[in-house]
Amino acid sequence: MMKEISVFLENEKSTSELGLKLSKNLSAGLLLFLKGDLGAGKTCLVRSILINLGYQGKVKSPSYSLFEQYSIDGKTINHFDLYRFKSAEEWLSAGFNDYINVHDITIIEWPEKAKNVLCDSDIEIEIVYDKEISRRALIRAKSKKGEAVCKDLV
Ligand SMILES: Nc1ncnc2c1ncn2[C@@H]1O[C@H](COP(=O)(O)OP(=O)(O)O)[C@@H](O)[C@H]1O
Ligand SMILES: [Mg+2]
Repeated sequence: MMKEISVFLENEKSTSELGLKLSKNLSAGLLLFLKGDLGAGKTCLVRSILINLGYQGKVKSPSYSLFEQYSIDGKTINHFDLYRFKSAEEWLSAGFNDYINVHDITIIEWPEKAKNVLCDSDIEIEIVYDKEISRRALIRAKSKKGEAVCKDLV
């Protein structure tokens, strides 16, 4: 595995700041996995990424819809939340693979729910609880493209 970066996220503002940094480095076709317990801050991070890319509408959590798509300045961002999947095969039967391509940025919360059917990510961020109310982001680059995103994050 490539190296892991650890970023302490004291409060929600810190999570937003990480989203800002990430938004500047995202490249075409990037596949980002977001792991961590319910309430860890995955959607919070995605919201910050989208807003900093220039999205002005409301960012909904796709926990019921499973999927939201955003079009920002000619860029397409796909946001999935697979928490409600009962089996990994739902990823395939829903045709979600078709959304992963070389142009669009795709962010997936709960990728574990589609283990073995999802393609490999470029970057994985696991958000864990740290010191009662704070969080820590463990950021792992999984490809060259992912490594480039990790640059200047700390
Ligand atoms: N670094 C942080 N420290 C403390 N609370 C945070 C932090 N980041 C986000 N939060 C809060 O935690 C909650 C995260 O919710 P959400 O992003 O929906 O979680 P998830 O998508 O992981 O289930 C929000 O209430 C947010 O205000
Ligand atoms: Mg969420």
